[in-house]
Amino acid sequence: MRIGFAFTGAGHLLSESVHLAEQLAKQHEVTIFLSGAAEEVLKMYGLYDRVVKLTGGKYRELATDSNQKFSYPITGRLSLGKYDLLIVSPATANTVSKIVHGIADTLVTNAVAQAGKGAVKTYMVPVDIHPGPVDTVLPSKMETSKCQNCDECVASLVCNQGAIIPHDEIDLTKCIGCGLCRNSCPHDAISEGKIITLYMRDIDIENTRKLSNIDDIEIFESPEDILDKI
Ligand SMILES: Cc1cc2nc3c(=O)[nH]c(=O)nc-3n(C[C@H](O)[C@H](O)[C@H](O)COP(=O)(O)O)c2cc1C
Repeated sequence: MRIGFAFTGAGHLLSESVHLAEQLAKQHEVTIFLSGAAEEVLKMYGLYDRVVKLTGGKYRELATDSNQKFSYPITGRLSLGKYDLLIVSPATANTVSKIVHGIADTLVTNAVAQAGKGAVKTYMVPVDIHPGPVDTVLPSKMETSKCQNCDECVASLVCNQGAIIPHDEIDLTKCIGCGLCRNSCPHDAISEGKIITLYMRDIDIENTRKLSNIDDIEIFESPEDILDKI
């Protein structure tokens, strides 16, 4: 099969989505589509390189909001029916909201719109699916309660990206999730993969419900469910 695999900027179910893309790329031609936020968030969780590794060659390209400029020419392939399937996993509340309102102003929302026009089926994993609390995982984080305000912050010295603001926080726009800071801080003041609870907003749950009513879009609770279906 020829598959378009789109990531958006959600940390929730991100690692599971990368695993799904890896599994599919073993047997299928997979083109990767990244929203601008997906590019950043994949780096924060140290997953970006795994996604890039899947690309190379025709129909295995890495399409991003920046390399597709404003008109997203690659999504024309979807309207021409050149793909068998488009997957969006994970799908942020932002992307879901735009799609249900017919907005197509990012690479991923545009890909979904063009897939609809080309009668290409779209499978989506919206992260805001059930009302109530959801446990989700954070990228690297400075735990200031553990920080000992060392004169020389070793974590900031080993960071090649200049992402550590000593005794304060990690600038996630620079972080690539390499884990060097975490391994070097003698006081264990940098955490990774910390679980926090978020509360779903009614408006986002309602948008996901509307999404499931759109022709040619099928929603799934998890990336594993898509693998089972394929
Ligand atoms: C570390 C991190 C994790 C995030 N996780 C989520 C998430 O799980 N769900 C979500 O809807 N937005 C999440 N966001 C916010 C989105 O990245 C943001 O709304 C972005 O504008 C979405 O753009 P996109 O829909 O074009 O990818 C996260 C942001 C960061 C920095």
